[in-house]
Amino acid sequence: FLRAARGLGEAARGMGRAMASAAVRERKVAVLGAAGGIGQPLALLMKMNPAVTELALYDIANMPGVAADVSHVNTRAQVKAYSGDELGDCLSGADVVVIPAGVPRKPGMTRQDLFNVNAGIVKNLVEAIAKNCPTACINMISNPVNSTVPIAAEILKRNNVYDKRKLMGVTTLDVVRAKTFYAEKMGLNVGEVDVPVVGGHAGITILPLWSQATPSAEMSKDDVEALTKRTQDGGTEVVQAKAGKGSATLSMAYAGALFADACLRGLNGAPNVIECSYVESTACDGVPFFSTKVLLGANGAEEIHPIGDINEYEKEALDAMIPELNASIESGVKFAAENK
Ligand code: NAI
Repeated sequence: FLRAARGLGEAARGMGRAMASAAVRERKVAVLGAAGGIGQPLALLMKMNPAVTELALYDIANMPGVAADVSHVNTRAQVKAYSGDELGDCLSGADVVVIPAGVPRKPGMTRQDLFNVNAGIVKNLVEAIAKNCPTACINMISNPVNSTVPIAAEILKRNNVYDKRKLMGVTTLDVVRAKTFYAEKMGLNVGEVDVPVVGGHAGITILPLWSQATPSAEMSKDDVEALTKRTQDGGTEVVQAKAGKGSATLSMAYAGALFADACLRGLNGAPNVIECSYVESTACDGVPFFSTKVLLGANGAEEIHPIGDINEYEKEALDAMIPELNASIESGVKFAAENK
């Protein structure tokens, strides 16, 4: 699988680089919510990552079966299942913690509808991270990411272990979708395409920057609008197609594995590891959390890239998203303040 994937471009090239550094370090990855729709394929993909030596899988249900299944794959990572009150053991010594725990969207629900359930789950999990692996890189997948990342920041601050470089919202699926849709529409090789996606991770806060896409292609206004909308509504497209049976799981597991792999490569000293991520940022005036490209290194997201040059269409879209993004951030901060 890995050998086949390596031909497929940037994603697979990342895995290849991980292979080169695989022998260098022992790395423990914990996945919280590992028996879920995202968690299961994500656990499998992390088991296939040669940089992982220990794979700790936690869920409140069905964990032993999934872990036993994944553990039979003949790769290097040692798999262990944790449930119930074993969260602390699962997290102890982890370098990267990936969080896809929570409820997914059903048709008609927005990401904000998930807020009350998932905010509580994230709060408890991040409290355990603060106690058991306070220096780990946190990859937040649980939605609404625009709010769950600020919640996590508040919890970590309260426990005096907040390092903004270590807390990352996973927006990689937006980038994966933007690359796929752009390559398809413009007739480009998807393995060679790059599209930065900035802002947040819901609706109009997702802003693909086609003007910075490479290779550059002449796009009509209609194409720009259609591709922007399709990227923003990618999650809804899957929710509707699954008709009540959940949201994006397979493409999300792929995107989550890609981002976790990038974090591991950064931790292991690989140069120029750059991915988009939703982090505490000054890239957009007046918005405390924002996604742009970040440089991943030994200390997590070590450098945050600016938004860069954008055109009029993108400027308008950026202005339009700011109130919604700030409201989601504020609701996360408020939730943390009210739930001590
Ligand atoms: P799912 O319901 O299939 O799986 C969630 C898993 O979390 C379940 O196995 C459940 O037992 C577990 N869980 C619930 N509470 C827990 C707790 N306190 N500790 C540990 N595990 C717990 O849901 P799915 O489809 O895997 O989605 C998970 C989350 O990922 C949702 O919040 C969803 O909205 C989000 N998501 C994020 C995306 C992104 O791009 N960042 C894309 C797609 C989904």
